[in-house]
Amino acid sequence: MDMSQPLDPLARTALWTASMRAREHEREDRLFSDPLAHVFAGDEGPRIMEQFEGHVQPGVEDPALAVRTRFLDDQLLRLDASGVRQFVFVAVGMDSRAFRLEWSPAVVVYEMDRPALLSLKEDIVRRLSVPTRCARVPLGVDLLTDWTTALLGSGFDPAQPTGWLVEGLLYFLEAQERDVLLRQLTSLAAPHSSLLADYVGQSVLDSPAMASWRARMAEQGHPWKSGSDRPEQLFEGFGWDVQVSAYGDPGADYGRWAGAAVAPGVPGTRGRYLVAAERR
Ligand SMILES: C[S@@+](CC[C@H](N)C(=O)[O-])C[C@H]1O[C@@H](n2cnc3c(N)ncnc32)[C@H](O)[C@@H]1O
Repeated sequence: MDMSQPLDPLARTALWTASMRAREHEREDRLFSDPLAHVFAGDEGPRIMEQFEGHVQPGVEDPALAVRTRFLDDQLLRLDASGVRQFVFVAVGMDSRAFRLEWSPAVVVYEMDRPALLSLKEDIVRRLSVPTRCARVPLGVDLLTDWTTALLGSGFDPAQPTGWLVEGLLYFLEAQERDVLLRQLTSLAAPHSSLLADYVGQSVLDSPAMASWRARMAEQGHPWKSGSDRPEQLFEGFGWDVQVSAYGDPGADYGRWAGAAVAPGVPGTRGRYLVAAERR
């Protein structure tokens, strides 16, 4: 790891999710293949994963990451098959989709995250000479300020329908920060662009079942700060037609959700869910 640019606590969560993908890759019944994940996770990813899973229910794997990865892979490939050639991965972390999905020729993927995180990722990619399956444009930005100028200056075409991926980010933002980000993103999304995301219900977040998880996340410097019980309304409000799948719904289960270790939800609300939206 490049210690001249230490990762902030929130950026470190990208090593954790990479580690969960690495573990999924090792399963015989894996939902996706991600041979780079263990390299991107480094030594620290497995440590964080163990720390958090042990805290929830020792020895029981949380299936959410595997389900969401596969769900979003399927959605991204569907967009590619429908002719979308421009994708923006917002808070990309150590996501290796640019290297592992079978993109059509001419696909460009813009990868945005903190500069230090992307610099670490680039070191790994260069060291291993990892071939990409698309044109990949890493952009070190702060998503809480003006990231749009960097994106527009890097070749991104706001007139083209774009596939936007916001995975593993929204709950780390205050509602007001989330809204600013969604407004900025929507301003660059041509009609028929798509937005893919995961999020959590506010009632679930506030429920006693989540209290110790939230406390632990906060202690480690990366608290979950917001959720929404009305994702349809939230995304529609920004100009998107929305489909929401709760984990465990048909199409968002993949045979993994029954017996999930982490509080699956509070009756009458969406617990944790996946969003697929299209710009009006
Ligand atoms: C849980 S990780 C998710 C990474 C990846 N999308 C995944 O699902 O594996 C959260 C990511 O959000 C990024 N992030 C959070 N706040 C950010 C900000 N203000 N600017 C840029 N990146 C940010 C972190 O650096 C980290 O890579």
